[in-house]
Amino acid sequence: MEKVTLGIIGFGNMGEAIGRALNPSDFKKILVYDLDPKKLKKDRRFTKAKNSGDIINRSEVILLAIKPQNLSDFLKENKAALSFRKPLIVSILAGISTSIFEKYLKGGRIIRAMPNLPALVGEGFTFLSAGRDARRGDLEIVKRIFSKTGEVVVTEEKNMDRVTSITGSGPGYVFYFMDALYRSALNLGFPKLQARRIAIRVFLGSAKLAEASGKDFASLLKGVASPKGTTEAALKIFESQRVGYAIEKGVKGAKRRSEEISRGFKER
Ligand SMILES: NC(=O)c1ccc[n+]([C@@H]2O[C@H](COP(=O)([O-])OP(=O)(O)OC[C@H]3O[C@@H](n4cnc5c(N)ncnc54)[C@H](OP(=O)(O)O)[C@@H]3O)[C@@H](O)[C@H]2O)c1
Repeated sequence: MEKVTLGIIGFGNMGEAIGRALNPSDFKKILVYDLDPKKLKKDRRFTKAKNSGDIINRSEVILLAIKPQNLSDFLKENKAALSFRKPLIVSILAGISTSIFEKYLKGGRIIRAMPNLPALVGEGFTFLSAGRDARRGDLEIVKRIFSKTGEVVVTEEKNMDRVTSITGSGPGYVFYFMDALYRSALNLGFPKLQARRIAIRVFLGSAKLAEASGKDFASLLKGVASPKGTTEAALKIFESQRVGYAIEKGVKGAKRRSEEISRGFKER
């Protein structure tokens, strides 16, 4: 596949995670720009751009990794250059549909991606959906980029708010549970470092077992929770506190927020 120049606009948590997963020799160049100059540390793999206009003028593919609340200003500032240069835009912004870009820019090749933070260690899970004018080759380029950060799935745009609420935000839910496990270990008197190892190893080991066994989660649970045993005693308390229900409600809240961001943007 022909090499392209990739421009990353917004080099925060996600922009940097994706950038660092890539091999610069797969590209003509990787340009990066962030409003906050401190985020653009010296790194020979990336070329610092002067501003977003500079990136748009020099890149065939643009990875937009700014926050949704900054999009309006970004589009106002760069509408003319984007409409003129027509790069392939890959947006990872939660709650921003491809049609928002298409409407504002009067067309254009847009791909929406929803990655997640484990992309930092090559264990991400990214869903992609193509906008109206994106070509098959565009999707191939973007698949290639995100495959360096973990698993990639292509879906329809209508699924992206639910994807955001479960895989995009998902690591946050896991860290919440890990933190509760960590605090429980501290309460039991384990020293901090060991409590942290406990939380990490319990999650990592369980996830690996689930993947390797291919069993459903209810059967795996049965393997740990023997009748009248210790795990069952804890699970009974989780059930009485409706922990599982609270998680399901939380995920629905995240999906509503993704839909709200999208509506909020259209109404502005
Ligand atoms: N974090 C996640 O786990 C995750 C997962 C999936 C998707 N996402 C999506 O990824 C996007 C980025 O999230 P993040 O967590 O990486 O945010 P972040 O760490 O705040 O990074 C965004 C960066 O973009 C900069 N920025 C804002 N406007 C800009 C502009 N016009 N030109 C250049 N840089 C600009 C910000 O600078 P200032 O701080 O100075 O404003 C900030 O450094 C969001 O839209 C989010 O919905 C995040």
